[in-house]
Amino acid sequence: MFDYAIAHPAGSPAFHAELQEAADALTAGEPDPVANMANLAALIWQLVPDLNWAGFYRRQGDTLVLGPFCGRPACIRIPLGRGVCGAAAGTGESQLVDDVHAFPGHIACDAASRSELVVPVLHDGVVIAVIDLDSPTPARFTDGDRQGFEALAALIAARIAEG
Ligand code: SME
Repeated sequence: MFDYAIAHPAGSPAFHAELQEAADALTAGEPDPVANMANLAALIWQLVPDLNWAGFYRRQGDTLVLGPFCGRPACIRIPLGRGVCGAAAGTGESQLVDDVHAFPGHIACDAASRSELVVPVLHDGVVIAVIDLDSPTPARFTDGDRQGFEALAALIAARIAEG
């Protein structure tokens, strides 16, 4: 059984350090990328407050394909450059969107989503996936969250890489 909890205030540097510690412990020594993405999505869903979607899209050529997640069923394929996820994967840069309705080309998978943070996962300098977080609260995510999830992405990149 895995029983993780975070003591520090949500979004603080200490919160993110604890989240990374838990993610590290949960995936250490497990070579299966799907198992690791599934557990990471569940961990984020459990520990990060005020989300309505948390999970992975994996890059396959010039398309993002839905990976393990928690939340409502979501769009399966997103071309690079399309929507918030496609922008993150296409540029290799995190997208912190305070108001998804103001983001050109935002893809509404869940009408409840108001803000979004998408962080690319790079392995050997290549985007292999993105971590996508949606919230029903406008401007839910901070720059500290962006930094925290970028560190998390770097930590788990090799553990979700195929082959
Ligand atoms: N809103 C995303 C699509 C994925 S769902 O949020 C799960 C986007 O615009 O890329």
